[in-house]
Amino acid sequence: MINIAVFASGTGSNFDAILKAIEEGTLDARVALLVCDRVGAGVIEKAQLHEIDTVVYTPKIFENKAAYEAAILEDCRTRGVEFIILAGYMRLIGPTLLQPYEGRIVNIHPSLLPAFPGKDAIGQALDAKVKVTGVTVHFVDDGMDTGPIIDQEAVKIEAADGPEDLKEKIQAVEHRLYPEVIQSLFIKEELK
Ligand code: GAR
Repeated sequence: MINIAVFASGTGSNFDAILKAIEEGTLDARVALLVCDRVGAGVIEKAQLHEIDTVVYTPKIFENKAAYEAAILEDCRTRGVEFIILAGYMRLIGPTLLQPYEGRIVNIHPSLLPAFPGKDAIGQALDAKVKVTGVTVHFVDDGMDTGPIIDQEAVKIEAADGPEDLKEKIQAVEHRLYPEVIQSLFIKEELK
């Protein structure tokens, strides 16, 4: 079984989907840690409900990004974290975490990358009036949503779709796809 840390900044619906897949036995992993960078984020309560170790950091109280990430690295190492799963973590990962976890940090993004990277990918797709958007799972590198793509799934945009409708469709795909992709990565890892 692989030890993971989930990094999140928001509501935590993807965090919940990961926990559900673990409980149902379709994802063979253990969430050793939740890392959150926003005091009061909904995901913190979800972790508490499941009695998952949680650290909440306010990055600006650290001297710099390296110091912030060094604290997180220590938290991950002491808990034997093997993979880092970003689930709505709205921050770039710097070299302090990237180097020790190279090829072991994964992100989910609500668009078909390379289209619509960065914030509000759903709003960007609606503004661009595209008919198809989707979900991407990718390895993390030092860019903004630029690492090697592991899997993608398209979501059709209907004329009547507003931001909430599209978010609902995209998140339904995310909640199924993310645990599946993580599981397939872990199977490959265990075969190494
Ligand atoms: C998800 O839709 C995820 O794809 C997106 O944040 C949302 C978090 O929702 N991530 C990004 O935009 C990363 N660039 P959640 O907190 O309910 O899981």
